[in-house]
Amino acid sequence: MKQLMLKPAIYKYGTCREFAEEFQIGAGDLVITNQYIYEPAFGSLNLQCDVIYQENYGAGEPSDEMAEAIYKDIKGNPGRIIAIGGGTVIDISKIFALKNVSPILDLYDGKVPAIKDKELILVPTTCGTGSEVTNIAILALNSRGTKKGLAVDEMYADAAILVPELLKGLPFRFFAASSIDALIHAIESTLSPKANDYTKLFGYRAIDLILKGYLKIREYGEEARLPLMEDFLTASNYAGIAFGNAGCAAVHALSYPLGATYHVAHGESNYAVFTGVMKNYMELKTDGEIAVLNQYIADILGCDASDVYEELEKLLNVLLPKKALHEYGVTAEDLKEFTESVMENQGRLMANNFVELDQQRVYKIYQELY
Ligand SMILES: [Fe+2]
Repeated sequence: MKQLMLKPAIYKYGTCREFAEEFQIGAGDLVITNQYIYEPAFGSLNLQCDVIYQENYGAGEPSDEMAEAIYKDIKGNPGRIIAIGGGTVIDISKIFALKNVSPILDLYDGKVPAIKDKELILVPTTCGTGSEVTNIAILALNSRGTKKGLAVDEMYADAAILVPELLKGLPFRFFAASSIDALIHAIESTLSPKANDYTKLFGYRAIDLILKGYLKIREYGEEARLPLMEDFLTASNYAGIAFGNAGCAAVHALSYPLGATYHVAHGESNYAVFTGVMKNYMELKTDGEIAVLNQYIADILGCDASDVYEELEKLLNVLLPKKALHEYGVTAEDLKEFTESVMENQGRLMANNFVELDQQRVYKIYQELY
């Protein structure tokens, strides 16, 4: 049985200049990025590559329409696709490493084979998605009003580049939401039935780095995160390796309808359902990996394992106050629809749950969070 897949070579650089020089970025390369990231970090290097700014093709999450529009503007046949940005830029760029991209809907329906014909270099500028080491690109398919993930090994990057300097400008609330997302990747993948000693090695270490960083932020304030950016970026990468192999589960599944319907950012909507899911796991099964995990987190937080979710919530609330679902505009009627949507559309994630959560249980979780 396969234990761990880690396709990209991982690099770390102190500065953007070092990265650009070592990779000899120039003619024949296409950089997909955002202007507010690229100009301050790479502008003065006068690189001779083509540059596409994703924000010129629509705001918000990556969609099929955005991907088609960018694809039309790609000139010639670049040898390398270099993505520098957050989850949107990185997910959408993975698609352009493929030979046949359009129509995107056919690609996502599996009617067009995924054939890799360009080198792919991914440079994250947030500390959450871990997308630089996974083979998944999630797009909103606007014409169908749904989200769909394409996961093919042809979309693994050749190189994942970590430059902590790029995260220094990340505003605190984006830092908070993205690092909580990474923490949840680590926790969900560690509890997954697909977890093994290799994925847990990365998962537990990510949890350790993130929570110890949060303790420092609680003690010394928001600015205390700045010298810790390398830790958070590394942790997000570890969590990406863990969930890229063992999968995410119910927290992500229950978070999707909230995020999609009320436009709540991914990390924040995950946090809104996170402890609710964990407490329900505990009602169903208190032994096995969840006992190991709770003790591990309790040791870091210096609390009793029986209080671990309350203490964890207190700590996370310092970064991002948890809200009840109704505070996002969710109505009591939504809860039934959300539940049905999870049971119908999120089977891929729900298969990775620590214990089986049936329709009744999912509805109960939403009610408790309402
Ligand atoms: Fe996530």
